[in-house]
Amino acid sequence: MEKQTDLSEAEIAVHWQEEGYYHAPVSFVVQANLRDADVFKRFSPENFPECYKEYADLLSWYKYWDKTLDTSNAPFWRWFVGGKINASYNCVDRHLEKHRNKTAIHFVPELEQERIQHITYQELYVRVNEMAALLRNLCGLEVGNRVTLHMPMVPELAITMLACARIGVIHSQVFSGFSGKACAERIVDSGSRVLITMDGYYRGGTMQDQKEKADIAVAEAASQGYAVEKVLIWQRYPGKHSSPQPLVQGRDVVLNEALKSYRGTRIEPMQMPAEAPLFLMYTSGTTGTPKGCQHSTGGYLAYVAATSKFIQDIHPEDVYWCMADIGWITGHSYIVYGPLALAASSVIYEGLPTYPDAGRPWRIAEELGVNIFHTSPTAIRALRRAGPDEPKKYNYHFKHMTTVGEPIEPEVWRWYYETVGKSEAAIVDTWWQTENGGFLCSTVPALHPMKPGSAGPALPGIYPVIYDEDGNEIPRGANKAGNICIRNPWPGIFQTIWGDPERFVRQYYARYNKREGSKDWRDWPYFAGDGAVQSADGYYRILGRIDDVINVAGHRLGTKEIESAALTVPEVAEAAVVPVADEIKGRVPDLYVALKPGAKPSHELEERISKAVTTEISPIARPRKVWIVADMPKTRSGKIMRRVLAAVSSGKDAGDVSTLANPEVVADLRKMAETAKV
Ligand code: WTA
Repeated sequence: MEKQTDLSEAEIAVHWQEEGYYHAPVSFVVQANLRDADVFKRFSPENFPECYKEYADLLSWYKYWDKTLDTSNAPFWRWFVGGKINASYNCVDRHLEKHRNKTAIHFVPELEQERIQHITYQELYVRVNEMAALLRNLCGLEVGNRVTLHMPMVPELAITMLACARIGVIHSQVFSGFSGKACAERIVDSGSRVLITMDGYYRGGTMQDQKEKADIAVAEAASQGYAVEKVLIWQRYPGKHSSPQPLVQGRDVVLNEALKSYRGTRIEPMQMPAEAPLFLMYTSGTTGTPKGCQHSTGGYLAYVAATSKFIQDIHPEDVYWCMADIGWITGHSYIVYGPLALAASSVIYEGLPTYPDAGRPWRIAEELGVNIFHTSPTAIRALRRAGPDEPKKYNYHFKHMTTVGEPIEPEVWRWYYETVGKSEAAIVDTWWQTENGGFLCSTVPALHPMKPGSAGPALPGIYPVIYDEDGNEIPRGANKAGNICIRNPWPGIFQTIWGDPERFVRQYYARYNKREGSKDWRDWPYFAGDGAVQSADGYYRILGRIDDVINVAGHRLGTKEIESAALTVPEVAEAAVVPVADEIKGRVPDLYVALKPGAKPSHELEERISKAVTTEISPIARPRKVWIVADMPKTRSGKIMRRVLAAVSSGKDAGDVSTLANPEVVADLRKMAETAKV
């Protein structure tokens, strides 16, 4: 496989010097959920896998499991086999006795003049039950059916997810910013008969038309011979239709109207097997189509509840705000399932962090008394640029902050710590992936000092290893870059790729598998697809993806997906996408295209290609620049050399190009890049 991204990432890593430690304040340490360093003994390899009972015991089980980890069909791990559990019960019902009247969800609308809504656990219980009844009775949904959600950041999204979980229906939430076409692809792949959406929502001060995307998605699915039977539509403002698109008779159902007939209905939570799938989360991988990561009920919920408690340090009395989107795994695990399993108050914010100005998050924190804050380096960089002194104006106090999703530059980390955190919060830099369910590497906030730019050591019970290209282990603490893998299974790991078990094995386990057909988990290290170094203190620094995935503003995009979108434009013969560094977003895609004979380059064509990417995927995938080139740099076997394009895009030396079939194009490309304004 041709490698493209690791070079530049590794260079950045090398230029980052070792940073000094920061210590969590004593006030944090004395109240922390996890203060006992013995946890690492309890989770030592000798105690694996039974140690994970401690996590599972944070939940309420109808029936305990017979076997903690079944490896008989390796690497399809089965956790807590024989156990019976319901995720909706664990996130809602069981809190009623003690916390009935406590806020479960604070909903912050983007428009500041709209009041914040506070949904108590009792109200959540009522609404989840009514929605579960509707899904079952109106849509005829049953255990194991899949439902696609394409919803914005509103409490109805959490309610819908929990309603699905209550009756054993597998939800697949697609990020609201994805296009109707991207949604259709996921509807078809998951085999959903029902699509649940909202008419519109606010972003950047304007009402977005989400219903239009549902119409496109259904039409697109139909063109592939796939019928969506029902589209359930929440109204952003109940009683008012906020989209210009009319309802389709017989297909569209306005939820807040339809729910009226279910008022007061209660639905017993289904006693689900621990390994029943809870949800699918589509993500980008090395090949064209996004893949549906299938997460379990018992193992997943145990892992996110425990990591929310021990790494996020959530206590029931905390006000916790994770500013991620529920359309990504971070939102599933650390806005909905983890915090609600612990009876926390979780904030859902509808809009942009910088709307109407860069003081907004700090006003929200002040108004709600948020004391745990969770976001991404991209958001931190954007807030820092737009309002470096804003946090000082507001009277809020964070005890704990998280950064997730991308490497964070030490300088940005320090602004987060000193200015946002007012030097009084513990910070965790959590490394993990959609596939993992929950955190893999992070400091335990009361036990390890923080080191800017490093995720930290592995979590209790997680045993990473860094391999070189040939499968040799890079010695512990060697500070040498390699491919990070996890030696052992853990309860949060996804179960398979929906509908594609072979790809699951090939992509994640084949690379460093020690013995084909083995039933011993020791033979199946999990291949994460990230480069990493481990320094002498055991802390891991993540260098970024080593495959064809670009991490744009913390969103995972496949270069192949963007290339296929460009190829939908009839004039385009070939397309190649490479990542370029961006001050705010970390990485952005640059798109190179070669045209078919007879087609003429023009600004209009560049625009059209860019637009194709937006409609096929999402505005988040929009290229920084579309470069129409006469010729792509190619190997003698005809493969496009993306490494060379990446070097051109970032103004770096392309290295040895003598092996190219057409080395002369490199000079032309350079000239083009130098004269173009980006
Ligand atoms: C990257 C997001 C550096 C990494 C939870 C990974 C990180 C990909 C960090 C997964 C971090 C995530 N430091 N890089 N703390 N966390 N990444 O699936 O490249 O959307 O493979 O899951 O984000 O992105 P995903």
